[in-house]
Amino acid sequence: MAKFIIEKSGPLVGEVEISGAKNAVLPILAATILTDEPCEINDVPLLSDVDVMCRILRCLGAKVDVDEKEHTIVVDAKDINNSEIPYDLVKMMRASIFTMGPLLARTGKANMALPGGCSIGSRPIDLHNKGLRMLGAKITLDDFSVDANAPQLKGSLVYLDFPSVGATENIMMAASLAEGYTTIENAAEEPEIVDLANFLNKMGARIKGAGTDSIRIEGVKKLHGTRHAVIPDRIETGTFMVAAAISRGDVLIKNALPDHVRPVIAKLLECGATVNDEVDGLRVRGDINRLVATDIKTLPYPGFPTDMQAPFMSLLTTVRGTSTIIETIFENRLQLAGELSRMGANIRVDGNMAIVPGDKRPLHGASVIATDLRAGAALVLAGLVAEGHTEVSDIYHIERGYENFADKLNALGAKVKRAE
Ligand code: EPZ
Repeated sequence: MAKFIIEKSGPLVGEVEISGAKNAVLPILAATILTDEPCEINDVPLLSDVDVMCRILRCLGAKVDVDEKEHTIVVDAKDINNSEIPYDLVKMMRASIFTMGPLLARTGKANMALPGGCSIGSRPIDLHNKGLRMLGAKITLDDFSVDANAPQLKGSLVYLDFPSVGATENIMMAASLAEGYTTIENAAEEPEIVDLANFLNKMGARIKGAGTDSIRIEGVKKLHGTRHAVIPDRIETGTFMVAAAISRGDVLIKNALPDHVRPVIAKLLECGATVNDEVDGLRVRGDINRLVATDIKTLPYPGFPTDMQAPFMSLLTTVRGTSTIIETIFENRLQLAGELSRMGANIRVDGNMAIVPGDKRPLHGASVIATDLRAGAALVLAGLVAEGHTEVSDIYHIERGYENFADKLNALGAKVKRAE
């Protein structure tokens, strides 16, 4: 298994270019199933999750051409001839559930292994099923798989008990080809939902209100092909903003959209970092003021993103004072505390709260394990400032969601080596 070996590095200085958003490109690739005409997707990040989604599309009968140099993928789903996704692909990436809505809308059926949980939580799909049932799908579940049938989807009012990102996306995609109107109430508002809605509308869908808690979709008979450039990845942006702060460096983050990272900017400012919205990017400095503690509570967008909780936990072990982190989105996403404690941070976890003492104890290098992609990235950031060297294993998690993570960090002065 591959691992990263990180030496204590100096302040990160220089420029980094943000790649396309993983959590936008995955549902957008799934949405190409909705049309029998080719779609060209640009600014695609080169990630293992994207590879898996391309394998899923090919397994369904679509033609998928990937141009890595151009960061472009062309999908031609004219010949969708299968509605079953095998377990070995679903277990590699739970986002395969995003194909259920489009498959139902295009072919009238979908069958896939249950995505199952992961280290951060049980990851149920009850809200996906509730929404698709409200659109007329007959969904049967056994212990291992979900089987859905809908000769014709019909628009409906769908209230989401929790603003689930994936459920909002699945229902929005299915409703695009349903008969009549659908309204999704208590919808998720993430920028990736807006990017997906923009893509669908360019295909001829009629979606209004994406980005708010109420999305209205007027079903249409057919969608056509289109071309779309994916938005920059706001979580990669936030991760490099934290990298600048934790290393007390000075980094220009190019291709970042400030509006997508407002809570991250606010919390970095509270810690004493400086963030300037410059012409060609966000400039983050951790070298001007002494950094101090702050408190984090993760919430659905536009609240503080759960995916940024782990990188901030690493940062908060290095600042003056004690911080608290409350994780409200996933039931088991504070595991990083245990790994950071192996590096000398004596973080106490009590339910969904972590108490993070600050720089009374500098971190020291250790062998640690990435439990999910964000905790993996957070451990690399901690390794940059820990005495000695740190080994992070199970880095396949990181490579699912960060394009060329080590190369981008090393270009800023970090010392991160990949080893088998
Ligand atoms: C998306 O996951 C992202 N993944 C996650 O990013 C992100 O952390 C999450 O949204 C929250 O922002 C992709 O977009 C591919 P949810 P998703 O449905 O859609 C509960 C990363 O690091 N829930 O909003 O699975 C669920 O258990 C990943 O890039 C139900 O109860 O998230 C969780 O507690 C990690 N029933 C909460 O909602 C459902 O049917 C949020 O889940 C669905 C979800």
